Amino acid sequence: MRSLWNRTKHVIKRPLYAAYERRLTGKARAWRKPEHIGIIMDGNRRFAREFGYDDVVRGHEAGAEKLHDVLGWCHDFGVRYVTLWAFSLDNFKRSESEVKRLLQLFEEKFREIVGDPRVHQNQVRIHNIGRMAMLPPTLQQAIKSAEDATREYTKLQLNVAVAYGGREEVTDALKRYLADEAEKGRPLAEVASEFQASHIDPYLYTNGVPDPDLIIRTSGELRMSGFLLWQSVYSEYYFCDTFWPAFRKIDFLRALRAFDLRQRRYGK
Ligand code: IPE
Ligand code: IPE
Ligand code: MG
Repeated sequence: MRSLWNRTKHVIKRPLYAAYERRLTGKARAWRKPEHIGIIMDGNRRFAREFGYDDVVRGHEAGAEKLHDVLGWCHDFGVRYVTLWAFSLDNFKRSESEVKRLLQLFEEKFREIVGDPRVHQNQVRIHNIGRMAMLPPTLQQAIKSAEDATREYTKLQLNVAVAYGGREEVTDALKRYLADEAEKGRPLAEVASEFQASHIDPYLYTNGVPDPDLIIRTSGELRMSGFLLWQSVYSEYYFCDTFWPAFRKIDFLRALRAFDLRQRRYGK
């Protein structure tokens, strides 16, 4: 049973937050914005438990609902790319029932998003990053339909990282690079001696997308867990304690404000 304060605090704080949100939104106009934001959407199960739900999937459902808000905020603030980490390769280690229901939820969301008029009005291109072959065929089909229906859109690109792992992404890239070089008939010793970091880039799942400028992780965890491992070398990080399903526009604006205040030097 949640305490009376837990149940009523949102109602009491609502007008205060609305005023604060308006003030931050006004100020945000002048801030330097990230072109690419990555989000590690963490804390769904803790959110469910805090709200007294026995079934943690309720937390995943509430988290999935946030997608529409985030897309709207990114659109309003001129963000060009957003990468959302929805499911890691390590998450396959969770119970069979949680994995099954999560994958079903993604399928529903991919189908729902194609039918959402805002996706078409705002020209959102949807792209999946991760090991697609590990997903059930019906989910693969839903992803492919969402990608096909939005392929020509150029205003905002939404990368959804499902079955994604950072080390696996680099491993897959290297494998494909080596296979291509082998196909050209180049000897391994020659490939090795000429090998450079930039050879990896075109083989990453994010090929063509600039590196993330800002990475947000919710739920108070201070780690990357491999998210965009190769691409995040010069990303700015923002951590907040809010569990993902409770992530508000205020949290998003605070992350943008923190980014505006950062000094990026790239080693110079
Ligand atoms: C993030 O929330 C969603 C996924 C990883 C699928 P979690 O499910 O990790 O929730 P917590 O972090 O255990 O609260
Ligand atoms: C990372 O969260 C993956 C996603 C948010 C999808 P986890 O909850 O799986 O990560 P760890 O285990 O806390 O590092
Ligand atoms: Mg977690």
